[in-house]
Amino acid sequence: MNTDIDVSRHRNAVEFADGVYWIGALDPTLRTFDIILRTANGTTYNSYMVRGSEGVAVIDTVKENFSDEFFARLESEVDYHEIKVIVLNHLEPDHTGALPELMQRAPQAKLYISQRATSMLKALLKPSADEFEYTTVNTGDTVSLGDRTLRFLHTPYLHWPDTQCTYLEDEAILFSGDVFGCHYCDKRLFNDQVGDFRFSFDYYYAHIMRPFKKHVIAALKLIEPLKIRQIAPAHGPILRERPRRYVTHYRELSTSSLTREIGSEDRSLIIFYMSSYGNTARMAEEVSEGAAEVDGVRVSLYDLEGGETEPFVDLIEEADALLFGSPTINGDAVKPVWDLLSSLAVVNLQGKIGAAFGSYGWSGEAVRMIENRMKGLKMHIPKEGVRVKLIPTEEELGECRVFGRDIAEVLVGKSAENSVIDFADLV
Ligand code: FEO
Repeated sequence: MNTDIDVSRHRNAVEFADGVYWIGALDPTLRTFDIILRTANGTTYNSYMVRGSEGVAVIDTVKENFSDEFFARLESEVDYHEIKVIVLNHLEPDHTGALPELMQRAPQAKLYISQRATSMLKALLKPSADEFEYTTVNTGDTVSLGDRTLRFLHTPYLHWPDTQCTYLEDEAILFSGDVFGCHYCDKRLFNDQVGDFRFSFDYYYAHIMRPFKKHVIAALKLIEPLKIRQIAPAHGPILRERPRRYVTHYRELSTSSLTREIGSEDRSLIIFYMSSYGNTARMAEEVSEGAAEVDGVRVSLYDLEGGETEPFVDLIEEADALLFGSPTINGDAVKPVWDLLSSLAVVNLQGKIGAAFGSYGWSGEAVRMIENRMKGLKMHIPKEGVRVKLIPTEEELGECRVFGRDIAEVLVGKSAENSVIDFADLV
């Protein structure tokens, strides 16, 4: 078994357990993946092959323009007629680019995909889709290679609806798709031999898996009970040394630290604001005071002028309600508010309570623009925002206080929502 390798020097399959091979490709010059992800040293497209007494299984393929490397490694160990099974853990093109050609070369092979992958498969293979037999599988389903068995785990939304993991029972190897992967290209291939990839691992989690934390937790319930000797992800190093720690790390990354800190009984309400002449700041203080009057609500007040955006993203992810205060300048909310709102694509805001407020000079569009943005992020806006022309009066500050209290009471379920904003009203 080859354990000391430089896979950039050859195009052979790499055996890393008895009859189990890496047949993937290196992409060391890639610097941007899927437009949004940066990588300092490329990535790998990991494909695997398992040989059983009654045939060979191929698990995932590679990006299309790396097909030559994939087929060369595959051919170094098997003839195409031996391939009985093709498993697709995930149908994104970086793992299915070589699939149409593989299916042409091994037409007898049966395809195993998750139920939710069906429509994607048809879109991928277009008219030729009907020519191929495929089977949809769910958690607990198995496919036999004679003397060894592959078992499937349904792990949707990690990070597409179609995603699944595949477990080789006798070797306790988890072929995990994008889960536990990272964009890190190292010709030494294994986690105990490659460079320090911790940053890449966490960065990948933060951008790919983080928006789907609740699905990560659901998947971990399936994965954690498994005996695991190695984890073979679709990108980055094969995790053969202490693989369990990566499972544990996913659990940590997916668990709310705020809940541990303030107790699961309390709800977190965060107010962010910017103020040019102190008027929106005065409103923010009153909103904060009002919200703090409600038992069971932990209120935080932050001036965006004094903070970095990135740490706020962590707070926002774990908050239950988010309020934004902005003046209107040139018919718009101010840039720091938009900067923060536009940096939230990595977190799931669906169902969180949102509200807006702000002082304005003559037009006052900012509040409704922010509400629109929060609606677009699938947040729930229980009350129409408070707008004050220029300097708030004592009466208007009192309204701000009531506004904060009302939002907090909605948050803890003490108040009916008396002013639900319909999207159509916002035009
Ligand atoms: Fe590596 Fe989601 O594809």
